Formats: sequence, C-alpha cells, structure tokens
Amino acid sequence: MLNLENISTTIAGIQVLRGISTQLRRGSIVAVVGRNGAGKTTLLRLIMGFLPQHEGRVLLDGQDLGAVPARDRARLGIGYAPEDRVMFPSFSVEENLRFPCEVIGMNKRAVDARLDETLGIVPELEPMLPRSGAALSGGQGKMAALGRAVMAGERLVLLDEPFQGLAPVLAQQYSASLQRLHQARPELCVVITESNRSLLKDIPTETLVLERGELQLAEAADTLAH
Ligand SMILES: Nc1ncnc2c1ncn2[C@@H]1O[C@H](COP(=O)(O)OP(=O)(O)OP(=O)(O)O)[C@@H](O)[C@H]1O
Ligand SMILES: [Mg+2]
Repeated sequence: MLNLENISTTIAGIQVLRGISTQLRRGSIVAVVGRNGAGKTTLLRLIMGFLPQHEGRVLLDGQDLGAVPARDRARLGIGYAPEDRVMFPSFSVEENLRFPCEVIGMNKRAVDARLDETLGIVPELEPMLPRSGAALSGGQGKMAALGRAVMAGERLVLLDEPFQGLAPVLAQQYSASLQRLHQARPELCVVITESNRSLLKDIPTETLVLERGELQLAEAADTLAH
C-alpha cells in the first residue's frame, strides 16, 4: 500500500536518507528501529511531505505523493503523531482531535463518528476532552497525539517514537490502543519508529532497521530477540 522507491535526501549538506526502497503492506504494523540520528523522523516527515526536496518516489496505493502537497495528505487518510506531539495550546483536546478532519472538510456528523471510534480505541482520552491542549502531561500528550493521528489516518498512521519516556502504565495503555486500532481497522498500515526496540515488545508485525539513513534487511518480527 505504501511504496518507497529509492528515497534519498540531503539536509544541510549531510545525506540523511540513502536509497531507501521498501513496500509496506495493508494491515501491517511496521516498526522502524534505528539509533538516534539514523533518520527515522526524517523518513516520516518525508512521507508527510514536510521535506522540501528528496530523490525517489513515495507511492500510496499507486498514487505518487510527490504531486500532493503536505496540507492535502491528511485528505488521503494519512495521520501523523510527531515526536514532539504539538497540541494547539489554545484549543481544547477535543478541538485538537477534530482539527485534522475539519481541515480536510469532513462534515460534522462524519467527524462525530470518527471521534466516537477514536474514543473507543483510545478511551483514556474521554476525560481529557474538555481540557486545554496546553494542560496535558507528556504522556497524556502522547495519547492525545495518537488520537489525533487515528482521527485523520484512515489508511496510514505514522507514530514517531511514541514509547519514548512513557511511564509503564501509559505504555501499556498505548499498546492496548494499538491492538484495538489494528482490530478496528484491519486494512490500516501503522508505522512506529523507535530507537529502543525492546519498548515495542510484540506489537510490530514486521520490523525495518534503519542505520545511518540506510535500510538494513527486513526482518520478521518473530525472529527478533526482544
Ligand atoms: N533540520 C535539520 N537540519 C540539520 N540536520 C538535520 C535536520 N533534520 C535532521 N537532521 C540530521 O539528519 C539526521 C537524521 O535525523 P533524524 O531526526 O531523522 O533522526 P532520528 O532517527 O529521528 O533520531 P532520534 O532517534 O534522535 O529522533 C541527523 O544526523 C540529524 O542531525
Ligand atoms: Mg526522531
């Protein structure tokens, strides 16, 4: 469903991604693991259209995203939870969750339905809805960012290091949400980056290893030592 074809990019004179080619399947939960600076965030930003220039092609179900500006990618059903969460502080959590769907012009009923579904997947968000986006702890912000990505990401959800710094109880809730997401949307492809592979436990269905901007051989998740 998502094809990366020979992706390379250079930032500030440094080659950050080198000839990345891979194919992500529908219904998969793909871990992209790699050390700090390996290029994980850059890869997700590139898929979102936030990098001005790169070589190679990104194809979503055959559609070349090169022609689709970043602001239109949510319309294609791509949701993104960046590393630094970025909630709008002057919006409530509920407004933050609705925002990507409203921006792409979904009507209120459709957004209401999407919010109901999202609260079923991430039930911890329900009591946070009226709170200000600025009033969340780091962990709560990660749950809210997951909810926002789930709201927009009908086809593809990209999560950048969600487990980093999450307390064990929250990490468990986050994993449970990912399992529910997988069940609720069996066709959805979820990409999770992580520098500490052991945090992902048995969540991924497959694992890609990124080393200095280069993809190493794909490994089946069940062959990995946790
Ligand atoms: N805006 C930028 N300006 C300069 N260099 C950048 C920029 N963005 C990324 N880089 C460089 O690109 C490389 C990859 O960075 P990236 O943030 O993608 O790695 P990462 O795998 O997400 O790391 P981390 O685990 O620390 O989040 C690093 O060497 C980084 O210094
Ligand atoms: Mg990163």
